[in-house]
Amino acid sequence: MLTDSVLASRKEILSHPDTVYVFTYAEGPSTDGIKMAYSIDQQTWIPFGPGYSFVKSDFGSWGSNKRMFSPSVLYDKGKWYAVWNVNNDTNQFAATESVDFWVWKPQDYPYLDNKENFLHPHLSKENGLFIVRYQTSNGNYYQLKSQDFHIWSSPEPINEQTYTKSNRQKTITLSGNKISGEVHRVSYSFVEGISQKTNDAVLRNNLYNENCGEDENRFKGIKGIKGNLIISNSSKPISTNLIGIFFEDINYSADGGLYAELIQNRDFEYSNLDRGEWSPQSFWELKGDGAQWKISTENPIHANNSHYASIISSNGFVLENSGFDGIVVKKGEQYDISLFAKTMNGKSQKLSIKIKSDGKVLASTSFKVSSGSWKHFKGVLSPSEDTNRGTLTIECNGTSHVGLDFISLFPQNTFKGRKNGLRPDLAQALADIKPSFVRFPGGCVSHGNGLENMYRWKETIGALWERKGQSNLWGYHQSKGIGFYEYFQFCEDIGATPLPVLPAGVCCQNSSRGGHGQQGGLPMSEMDSYAQELMDLIEWANGDSRTSPLAKLRAEAGHPTPFNLKYLGVGNEDLISDVFIERFNYLNKKIKSKYPDIQIVGTVGPFFEGSDYEYGWKLAEEENIDIVDEHYYVNPGWYVNSQNYYDTYNRQGTKVYLGEWASRGNRLENALAEAIHITNLERNGDVVVMSSYAPLLAKQGHTQWNPDLIYFNNTSVYPTVNYWVQQLCGTNCGSQYVYSDMIVKTMSEDRNGKIIDGLSQAANLRLRSSVVVDEASGDMIIKLVNMTPFDPEITIDFGNKIFQPTAEVSVISGKPSDKENKPTQKTLNIQEIKKYTAPAYSFSVIRLKK
Ligand code: AHR
Repeated sequence: MLTDSVLASRKEILSHPDTVYVFTYAEGPSTDGIKMAYSIDQQTWIPFGPGYSFVKSDFGSWGSNKRMFSPSVLYDKGKWYAVWNVNNDTNQFAATESVDFWVWKPQDYPYLDNKENFLHPHLSKENGLFIVRYQTSNGNYYQLKSQDFHIWSSPEPINEQTYTKSNRQKTITLSGNKISGEVHRVSYSFVEGISQKTNDAVLRNNLYNENCGEDENRFKGIKGIKGNLIISNSSKPISTNLIGIFFEDINYSADGGLYAELIQNRDFEYSNLDRGEWSPQSFWELKGDGAQWKISTENPIHANNSHYASIISSNGFVLENSGFDGIVVKKGEQYDISLFAKTMNGKSQKLSIKIKSDGKVLASTSFKVSSGSWKHFKGVLSPSEDTNRGTLTIECNGTSHVGLDFISLFPQNTFKGRKNGLRPDLAQALADIKPSFVRFPGGCVSHGNGLENMYRWKETIGALWERKGQSNLWGYHQSKGIGFYEYFQFCEDIGATPLPVLPAGVCCQNSSRGGHGQQGGLPMSEMDSYAQELMDLIEWANGDSRTSPLAKLRAEAGHPTPFNLKYLGVGNEDLISDVFIERFNYLNKKIKSKYPDIQIVGTVGPFFEGSDYEYGWKLAEEENIDIVDEHYYVNPGWYVNSQNYYDTYNRQGTKVYLGEWASRGNRLENALAEAIHITNLERNGDVVVMSSYAPLLAKQGHTQWNPDLIYFNNTSVYPTVNYWVQQLCGTNCGSQYVYSDMIVKTMSEDRNGKIIDGLSQAANLRLRSSVVVDEASGDMIIKLVNMTPFDPEITIDFGNKIFQPTAEVSVISGKPSDKENKPTQKTLNIQEIKKYTAPAYSFSVIRLKK
């Protein structure tokens, strides 16, 4: 007699075939990715997902330029290969491969040396060689060959018949529509695996989209919750650098923001590369009958600052600048005015310099220009009234011809009184986070829009007019007024460690310039001198100014003692292409062999999963990279439902810097999700060594990215509720993570109306805690996040540990949709702490003093 289990396994065997068919296809002429369906008989097809895109094209600048045309897919010896054309005009194509159809290798974009475009490829394998046959819009047909799907032969002309014969495309009916694609025979287990993965992805996506708006349903029937936090006596060391900041010149964060300069386009270096409609004359206005001006480049003040204003007038002129949406000055404060001028008609001229508001002169001075060579004029202006809408005017009477450049109006009142310094209120808001490090100058600003736009640190030091401004890929101009010296000085002023990030010899993969940025790096022949450029930074920052010429530059700028650079970021969320890997490895090896103590921070792409993440981590492990920089911008639900994300990371290898992260909103709900994530970062503070929210600053009316941590305008600073979470965590860090258990119980009514305890995963995930000790002070800090509508009493049990009789408690609370919440402070006695009530939707930080 057959037993039940034998029957069950026979049923299992009989219920599916060994092999089935899959159909790879794309919808529409330009598609969002390669999709797949399966069939047992090639008659009825079932789409995965449905409509799930397994691989999307990463070629081209952000957004709608990332398109995939006519993908051709091949399954050979258990591996998947895909090629497609990236647009209709480029002599490049895309190639990628995957062992499981799930994680695809970061895409390659080989160049075709015949310069014709590449359309409608057919991919095949013949006699052990990969062959791509394609057509061009000139009506030509070619084939490319490769042994390894990596290095491709030059295009060989073929005839139309050969091209057509290699077409494996079939048309099937899928969900009632006729679709073209390619059929492959695979094992049934492959289909099962893909099915499982796509179902999981859909389920996970639902979880990631969970939000507090669903709480009424989520907690239906639950009257309340309660917690018991049991704090153990054991602990582990964690990073003391967990909370830092990431400064990038995005959203007018630098010029017009943190950088205190009041004149916009002070050096006439704006151009249409910054923004289509801009020119060197932008933000300046010339007034006066018979006055004319042009931008001249003959004999400039410096080659890096090659444009200047050449003004001719027969009856006087007024040149006016209204700064960044108006110049803000305060009565009684001092403003340094400086400019370069020369007379260009041999005659002496008097220039009157005025700060005005609504036609009224608030301050003035004058300079006599008599030399035909550039002279640097300096003065101080002290306005008689406050204004938010001031202008700076340079006025000249009578007949004149003058050259003017580098016209600067700079407040003396800067953060810590630094010359060429920072806006005090904004800098103070950053300092108040008590960040343990500052990452700069980007972000995408670091690797740049095309190779020409990569951030070159040496162009940012020295005299201001010798620095090289450049276009900012966020659509405006970087003056480099905040250069590397100013970044390092700021770090020192706020007690933070500098973390400069320089390009890995490749530009942003989303570049719109320079062959779509995809991803021609610097030629390898230039990598030696590029590596030297990176090592020069270490020398400049840390060298002995008595012996090192580079360190002498630092000393001459005002800082004879070393800056104590410990970290160097190489690359920013780059595509982990072969081009990138070759250059990154070159730099990493060179720098580490000369400076073994410098911690190199590598990069693993812009997402928490996917090609760049997987291959970036593979590279990190192979090359034993010190630290890698992870980035993810995801919904609050991701943070709630991914709390064990780091728990399984290898503790012995490469460490993590979570360099950019945020939860896509400035509501309390977002801030609480971020607080939950910080409790998980603390628990994993032995592997996650640093983190920084992004982006940091945003000027109202000039934002390219939302949300941000701090908004501002010319006069005010508006920290978000997310900021207060960062600030509470930055000022309440620990050096030891203390193991603890939070036991969460729900309370509901039974049939007789009696309150009974129960368990709920939803409540567990939303009442979170972490406990750290700051060994410097001996204080123990408890962070409690309550992302539920209840106000649970939490019994806190800290065993025999002894603290002072009162503790400081900071609390942020409100409704999930609130945006204006700020922490309130109170002092509670130990008994009250032991029975702590966490308000609904709140973040509490309890500091128990030794
Ligand atoms: O933080 C804004 C941008 O996000 C950064 O420049 C880039 O690294 C990421 O894509």
